[in-house]
Amino acid sequence: MEGSHGRELSREIRLGGVNKTFSWIPPVSPAIFTRLAEASLVFVVANILSGAAVRLTGSGLGCPDWPTCYHHRLVAADAFHPLMEFGNRIFVIAVVVVAIATLLAALARRPYNKELIKRSASLVGGVIGEAIVGGIVVLSHLNPYAVAAHFLYAMVLATQALLIVHCSRHTPEELARLRVPLQAPTSRSSLLDSKVSPLRLYRRALLWSFGAISLIAAILVAGAGATGAGPHAGAPNVVRFHVPFDDLIHLHALIATSAGLVVVAYAFLLHKWHFSWRVQRRVWLLISVMAIQGAIGVTQYLLHVPADLVELHILGATTVWIIAVWQHLQLKVEAHNATEKEEAGMRATASSVVETFPL
Ligand code: HEM
Repeated sequence: MEGSHGRELSREIRLGGVNKTFSWIPPVSPAIFTRLAEASLVFVVANILSGAAVRLTGSGLGCPDWPTCYHHRLVAADAFHPLMEFGNRIFVIAVVVVAIATLLAALARRPYNKELIKRSASLVGGVIGEAIVGGIVVLSHLNPYAVAAHFLYAMVLATQALLIVHCSRHTPEELARLRVPLQAPTSRSSLLDSKVSPLRLYRRALLWSFGAISLIAAILVAGAGATGAGPHAGAPNVVRFHVPFDDLIHLHALIATSAGLVVVAYAFLLHKWHFSWRVQRRVWLLISVMAIQGAIGVTQYLLHVPADLVELHILGATTVWIIAVWQHLQLKVEAHNATEKEEAGMRATASSVVETFPL
């Protein structure tokens, strides 16, 4: 106990030092920090789309080297494919700059929030890591495993950026409470039948939500796998997965359909359990975007995968993922708020019982 207190204290002292180092930055308000965090999320998503555009225009090896464009030359030749690939590299620099600005803003944010500093620092590291994975994609001659990893890694970065936006809207105390697993109110067993506990419903809803998110993650993995066998390799003469494209797409569509059904069932359960409209609205938004995404998927498959529809499908996939995580975060906040309210209500009931029947 003392050890953990000591560690906490020394971390505070270290962070205090960091705080002084960055005292030249003017104080940043929570609202401005949130705007910057939102900008980071937008830039990460835009980078997913710019990377996809490089592959879909066949410009993946427009710059055949990394980090320079050619062995002895940093910048691209004046031609379409090299400029597409080089433009994407320049855009990555813009993403790093926005992520660094978010980190500096986290350091200068008042009130101080350690969670935001840690998460913003990991986003900066993550974006630099993504640039290195991009280099591996080029140096491996667009190996489909590397391309799929590049895409899935970008989804992790989008999740981290979304978490920064979410955390920026809560105090450190609220965030600490959200990390603790849902606890039954301490006086519950003596006062209420646990079968009708709202806590149980929140736990069930969180489980459904988690199940839906896992299935959506599986759609992304299957989609990225199918792409590795598909027609858009990013350049001519690139190695492909030796599995029939149609089989992978059928698997991808099957998982997508199952996920859609699970999300619809989850939405009806939320309605039946009288969950707040704030959570329900986000789940219905998820259903709508998933339906549009499914329609785009089927259309692009029937039209033999035209590049512009694939770009739209990648935007849809990113949007589906972000909304899925977003609704889960909202559900978690409400679950904790409801449990705390219940706990407070029980304490009030218990104290009025004590006042009415003093020992
Ligand atoms: C919520 C539902 C869906 C999501 C989130 C989703 C997501 C994805 C993702 C992430 C990819 C890989 C993109 C890339 O790396 O280029 C992909 C590829 C693909 N998806 Fe979906 N998808 C969904 C539903 C569907 C459905 C119902 C179909 C219908 C057959 C479909 C057809 C395709 C096709 C044909 C590709 C391959 C594109 C290519 O070769 O570049 N998708 N999907």
